[in-house]
Amino acid sequence: MASTENFESVVARSKQDPSRFWLEAAGAIDWDVAPTVAVDDSDAPLYRWFPDARLNTSYNALDRHVLAGRGDDTALIYDSPVVLKKKRYSYSTMLDKVGRAAGMLAAAGVVAGDRVVIYMPMMPQAVVAMLACARLGAVHSVVFGGFAAKELASRLDDAKPRVIITASGGIESDRVVEYLPAIVNALELAEHTVETVIVKNRPEVPGSAAEFEDATPGTRWWDWSSRSTDAVPHPPVSVAATDPLYILYTSGTTGSPKGVVRDNGGHAVAMAWSMRNVYDIGIGDVMWTASDVGWVVGHSYIVYGPLIAGATTVLYEGKPVGTPDAGAFWRVIDEHSVKTLFTAPTALRAIRKADPHAELSHGYDLSRLDAMFLAGERLDPDTWTWATALLQKPVIDHWWQTETGWAICASPRGIEHLPLRAGSPSFPLPGFGVSIVDEHGEQVPHLEEGNIVIDLPLPPGTLATLWQGDQRYIDSYLSAFPGRYLTGDSGYLDRDGYLYVMGRTDDIINVAGHRLSTGSMEQILAQHPAVAECAVVGVKDALKGQKPLGLVVLASGTTIEEAVLIAELVAMVREQIGAVAAFRDAVVVSALPKTRSGKILRKTMRQIFDGDDYVVPPTIDDTRAITVIVEAAGASTRRLV
Ligand code: COA
Ligand code: AMP
Repeated sequence: MASTENFESVVARSKQDPSRFWLEAAGAIDWDVAPTVAVDDSDAPLYRWFPDARLNTSYNALDRHVLAGRGDDTALIYDSPVVLKKKRYSYSTMLDKVGRAAGMLAAAGVVAGDRVVIYMPMMPQAVVAMLACARLGAVHSVVFGGFAAKELASRLDDAKPRVIITASGGIESDRVVEYLPAIVNALELAEHTVETVIVKNRPEVPGSAAEFEDATPGTRWWDWSSRSTDAVPHPPVSVAATDPLYILYTSGTTGSPKGVVRDNGGHAVAMAWSMRNVYDIGIGDVMWTASDVGWVVGHSYIVYGPLIAGATTVLYEGKPVGTPDAGAFWRVIDEHSVKTLFTAPTALRAIRKADPHAELSHGYDLSRLDAMFLAGERLDPDTWTWATALLQKPVIDHWWQTETGWAICASPRGIEHLPLRAGSPSFPLPGFGVSIVDEHGEQVPHLEEGNIVIDLPLPPGTLATLWQGDQRYIDSYLSAFPGRYLTGDSGYLDRDGYLYVMGRTDDIINVAGHRLSTGSMEQILAQHPAVAECAVVGVKDALKGQKPLGLVVLASGTTIEEAVLIAELVAMVREQIGAVAAFRDAVVVSALPKTRSGKILRKTMRQIFDGDDYVVPPTIDDTRAITVIVEAAGASTRRLV
């Protein structure tokens, strides 16, 4: 249901008096101490939202709904086609489970401010674990299950958690994902010692044995089920609005991931505001975000957003295809009366590839679906058109990042049903002053592509800083254009103010909606003794949007066969980053094109492999290297054909 005020007027109000706008929005949250000040700018360019307020996020997600008499409402629907389980959890049940899990963590010595790493598949206990941390004022850091032990270890050393919560196993396509060997390996690799590992055994995952007693020196291992059942439910701990709720690591341009820090107060306000105004979801509505709790989309709209709004969230442990088929999404929408589906364009492309005319949707009742939201990567017009024609419902592209925590640009379904345009995530939302600038920070004309920047301060719910990295935050995001946040995306605005996001300006690539750093892959390829030099670029992929491609120059005197080398490189990336890197292709070349100052021309190489027009920079060191890449691209295209 759209509101009585139109979008233009809401945006105008947010610009006229931002403090008033966000203090009013803060009225949707139950505070222990209500905010009287919106934003503290005394440490600019670092800003702190609601500096004099106190609250507990899990209280806002659970207790207040139970206290309001909605304890029997369904908070979470777990649907797992991989372990063949479906279960509904009421708000009262969730509150009981979260209280006990918080009691278990407290018994493990966790207090407010301590960090807890969560490394789990898409199971209800992952949500319970996150909320249990929030209840104690502890800071969770969820690590996506597709990352390997080495990535986990680097996060352990950065976040220094007191506890890890994990599960014995998950199921990915046809294989069992064993979490415990990865934990043991990560604990060995990390310098930091974790006091306690808590394991939820999953007998329903065949072959994922939870034999973990004394698995690692210095760390005790606890069984989730017995410890949480015996635990005394813990009440919510009041924290400052500015205290961290979670750290979420995301790929930066270097090999070391950035720990995005989200606060409690600004986040709660942003979740409440966006649920109502962007997604039009409230009490009694069902939202299904088909992502993973390991990503920001999962944090915001599987866990916190729907529960803070008092709605029902669907936790789906499956894929768009193959679990068991490309009709899975339509089944879930019908079976659970989903009002809003949120997923990544890749998921739609996967369904379309398997079932081009969506014949598997026939027989399912999709009438309760109000809209589909997409994010995580560029929504190509072709996929948008296909989905719109299929559903006959709004398919709403919206653009955001791990850093922002919620949408920068969207068509706000809860305010006004604005016309959508293919290829555009529509308009900047309140609080996001978006502009397009050239390399000198000058605003460029409409339709001209440039750096997308956002005026400071960013609105509530966006990153407060990087974990123990204020200076890194300033250097990475706030220094290029003083007074503005650098998104790392490029794009343009059309004459009507619709934004078009075209791609990254840095070395981040987006594979199946997963954000990956080519720099970290290059570091791994460079470890191979046969590799003298290398580059990784993200090339177009019809299903995943992009896929990583390695270009390697052999060390002189090397005799290794190309196929053997590539297989070894693929295995190394899988072992060190994880399956999620989806690194499967590499090409041996005799040289890499570089500028005279030695900068590798990754963008030019990507354009050549994509078959796009490219411009050879005048500063190129040796133009013959371009010919080498053109030939390699031609050969690889022929091979792929
Ligand atoms: N734990 C362990 N491994 C995982 C994993 C997890 N949670 N998630 C993915 N992987 C593995 C996959 O099994 C795959 O392994 P493989 O090389 O053995 O096949 C590998 O990581 C690459 O995964 P992915 O790129 O996702 O490819 P896929 O072929 O398994 O699936 C899609 C393709 C399109 C079905 C899938 O990417 C998808 O559903 N994407 C939706 C996008 C999404 O959720 N984005 C999140 C941000 S909104
Ligand atoms: P992540 O931090 O993993 O959410 O990835 C954020 C990045 O994904 C953004 O910086 C964009 O490059 C890309 N992205 C996310 N949503 C969109 C979208 N709707 N359109 C284009 N790119 C997007």
